[in-house]
Amino acid sequence: MAAIEKRSREDWQELDKEHHLHPFTDHKSLHKKRSRIITRAEGVYIYDADGNRILDGMSGLWCVNAGYGRQELIDAAAEQMQELPYYNNFFQCAHPPSIELASILKDVSQPQFKRVFFAGSGSESNDTIIRMVRTYWDLMGQPGRHTIISRNNAYHGSTVAAASLSGMKPMHRQSGLPIPGIVHVDQPYWFGSDQSLSPEEFGLAAARSIEAKIKEVGADKVAAFIGEPIQGAGGVIVPPDTYWPEVQRICDEYGVLLISDEVITGFGRLGEWFGADHFGTRPDFMPFAKGVTSGYLPLGGVFVSDRVADVLIDKGGEFYHGYTYSGHPAACAVAVANIKLIQREKLVDRIRDDIGPYLQDKWQAFGEHPLVGNTRMVGLMGAFEIVKSKEPFERFDEKQGAGPLFRDLLTDAGVCMRAVGDTIICAPPFILSHAEADEMIDKAWIALDLAQKALFD
Ligand SMILES: Cc1ncc(COP(=O)(O)O)c(C=O)c1O
Repeated sequence: MAAIEKRSREDWQELDKEHHLHPFTDHKSLHKKRSRIITRAEGVYIYDADGNRILDGMSGLWCVNAGYGRQELIDAAAEQMQELPYYNNFFQCAHPPSIELASILKDVSQPQFKRVFFAGSGSESNDTIIRMVRTYWDLMGQPGRHTIISRNNAYHGSTVAAASLSGMKPMHRQSGLPIPGIVHVDQPYWFGSDQSLSPEEFGLAAARSIEAKIKEVGADKVAAFIGEPIQGAGGVIVPPDTYWPEVQRICDEYGVLLISDEVITGFGRLGEWFGADHFGTRPDFMPFAKGVTSGYLPLGGVFVSDRVADVLIDKGGEFYHGYTYSGHPAACAVAVANIKLIQREKLVDRIRDDIGPYLQDKWQAFGEHPLVGNTRMVGLMGAFEIVKSKEPFERFDEKQGAGPLFRDLLTDAGVCMRAVGDTIICAPPFILSHAEADEMIDKAWIALDLAQKALFD
């Protein structure tokens, strides 16, 4: 018997309104229009309770990279649940799925990573890193070295510690964050700057603001720097090419640990296995989640470099940290099946050599629309910015809601993207076909024209 009853859309909406508090949601405004109830999905499409088919240009929440309805991922979960639905990795135990996954993760990551620590989400992974970074420096005889540098407008998760690493002012305002020992520098967002510097000069300057912060805090107090290779939730901020090499130089020079948050960019999104591979950095930690299971089951984790893991193992004794679901067997089995699927279907190569360049070309062409001020896309991770005027440059007043207006028109046309203010972001599944890419682009042009009419007529 199915666990979930069949109900009408109206019934689901009513129950949802009465009983369900949603993440990142203004409930008063949600209750006025009610939730869209998504009932099933296949390939790159989701279907709502009215039977509308919507092309999922966001892969759920940047996670359903292999697409929906992949039988081998479903089978991996079901078979593992029959064999061993749960056991933990505490108290000197382990089980085949967590061991197998740990060992194959080593094969797809950079050579400094031989070991991983599992968590249940990206936020938990970043909490784990704070604990590990500080423990590492204690063990290295530098207990004053606890400060972590992050960036304004970064997103690293929503637990108290991960939200502190995040640089989102509204999140910080609501809960008295950040916690002590976390400081922020500016993001490498050239288009959002006054553009007085070239992108290359701006990238160097943004990286050097980290160096300035290290000097301000004191090099003997700075433990680590954390950054998303491309900021995702902040609006797909692609840094200038000069940025990451300079960040690596600075971290090397001051001995600061480098954390590349790969929760979105991991497992192929940029046409390389990890964002660090794309930008040529050699991080000491890489948190991951989302794409490791293509979102079919929750799983997170942290790649820990030998530099840190050897010290924790040799000198650390017991590390007082872990989660009930660290390395959940069914989630790990799905992750193993998902990584094999990505390898077998050569999805990472496909993004680098085929669907990535195909979509990027069409995406850049949005720049010809009078409403679009800037376009950017790396691999299958892109954004464009809606502006009121290009010459002279002028943005819309936020209250006009140009970005959300476009997003809603696009959803009505049958394509889902996300609006971060007036920045429209997109991250479709890796299996997107050329025809599906065309559908997404054609509908976005139509929605842009409709938005322009609504905003100016
Ligand atoms: C870069 C990054 N790090 C961490 C997280 C947090 O992951 P989770 O929502 O699984 O806790 C996210 C979520 O979007 C993210 O984009």
